Amino acid sequence: MFYIVSMNNIIPSLKAIIDPSLPLMANLSNASAVLNMMEDINWCGFYLKDGENLYLGPFQGDVACTTININRGVCGYAARNKTAIIVPDVNKFDGHIACSSLSKSEIVVPIIVDNEVKAVIDIDAPIFDRFHDEELDILNQAADILKELF
Ligand code: SME
Repeated sequence: MFYIVSMNNIIPSLKAIIDPSLPLMANLSNASAVLNMMEDINWCGFYLKDGENLYLGPFQGDVACTTININRGVCGYAARNKTAIIVPDVNKFDGHIACSSLSKSEIVVPIIVDNEVKAVIDIDAPIFDRFHDEELDILNQAADILKELF
């Protein structure tokens, strides 16, 4: 029950806390805390695109890699191809960057403004096959809300 309630709360909570008059990092920091309401995840946060690289932004979870080239990793795949991606088993994704040995599955959704990727939302789970259409739908809505910050 808590699971259902918290999932339903993510988009209303994001809408409530986002304030475009405030600095990007303040907004993304609280946004990462809202995303962290999802159950059965071990990391959630943002990588911000600058040229050919994605740099670590606000997140919840363990220490993570700070720089990801767009030709590398699940995050790079999403940024390079301007598409969301669900990886049910990170061991089967060629080039997956293991920031944490806990992570078993992952979802990455790009935040796109004027056809340009500004950032990606990255969420890791400690269980296989954690992410499906429901999470994809919620994160696409989140990306749509957050893009007004860029
Ligand atoms: N696994 C990601 C790297 C970032 S961490 O999951 C926080 C990737 O392969 O791009």
